[in-house]
Amino acid sequence: MITQKFYGDDALIDRCVVTLAGNRGLMLVGEPGTAKSRLSELFCAAISGNSTHTIQGTAGTTEDQIKYSWNYALLIAECPSPKAFVPSPLYTGLSRGQLVPRCPPEIQDSLVSVLSDKVLMVLELGGDERVLLAQKGFNVIATANIRDHGVNEMSSALKRRFNVETVAPIFNLALERQRVLEQAQALLAESNVPVAIAPDVVELLVSTFHDLRSGQTQEGTVVERPTTVMSTAEAVAVSVSAGFDAYYLGDGTVTSEHVVRNLVGTILKDNLEDAKKLTHYFNVFVKGRAQKHPHWEGYYKARKWLR
Ligand SMILES: Nc1ncnc2c1ncn2[C@@H]1O[C@H](COP(=O)(O)OP(=O)(O)OP(=O)(O)O)[C@@H](O)[C@H]1O
Ligand SMILES: [Mg+2]
Repeated sequence: MITQKFYGDDALIDRCVVTLAGNRGLMLVGEPGTAKSRLSELFCAAISGNSTHTIQGTAGTTEDQIKYSWNYALLIAECPSPKAFVPSPLYTGLSRGQLVPRCPPEIQDSLVSVLSDKVLMVLELGGDERVLLAQKGFNVIATANIRDHGVNEMSSALKRRFNVETVAPIFNLALERQRVLEQAQALLAESNVPVAIAPDVVELLVSTFHDLRSGQTQEGTVVERPTTVMSTAEAVAVSVSAGFDAYYLGDGTVTSEHVVRNLVGTILKDNLEDAKKLTHYFNVFVKGRAQKHPHWEGYYKARKWLR
């Protein structure tokens, strides 16, 4: 059975498919942890049946690794030959007409000519092997996040070759809750930690993430947004840590106290000012909800862990 893997804007997916059916690359931009990389892999797997032609960018990535490289022992023994040739994921995508996800920042410009002309030259080889023309179906899906260097440092020449789509965090609270619960349970099961997280506990966490991320509570009151990223991926991470905490240090029942204890490390990672904002959120909004809903009471009491 095929299960839903991406929760969000269906119109965004339609536009991405239309872009990929055309001649331009697709660039997914957005906050960290909004499933850009996952979406790129899902497109590649669904359309090309393969999501492994991935170019992973790090500061150490070179142009060779993007285009192609050589088996140097064979190169010295035989001179440049197809046998000594080591294709890159981009080369394989071009030759098979498949999709290639992700685009690293430092060496991106080597992609400009490939994206424009849909051709890759291997000057060292002679004959027909010298020019690789892209097979029909080749395209690139790039992902970049707007917090780090990401799209800000990308050359306009490269940007022009992509249709840019912005992937937003999950807007629907119930959907995000379901997603976080499913993913956290799956990750805990993978780690052989047999704890069940109650939907009520996930609701506390996801509501907090929603309110702080959007700068507005569900009741419509403005709340100060922390500077740190509060993505769905982070909510999953907090739930999993709370599960570990309950299993290894508690009696195996995940409570709101475990959530608060593990929330601290996620929200306070960038800026100490965020601690004040989180404390204020608890003292005002969580307190208000605790007076009306019993399951918020324990969450409010656990605020001592924020200190
Ligand atoms: N809308 C969503 N639907 C499904 N899963 C989501 C959604 N948003 C976030 N996730 C989950 O968040 C996790 C992180 O996703 P991913 O690594 O693709 O994020 P990213 O946007 O590429 O982040 P970064 O900018 O840090 O690279 C994934 O496991 C994914 O399942
Ligand atoms: Mg990513």
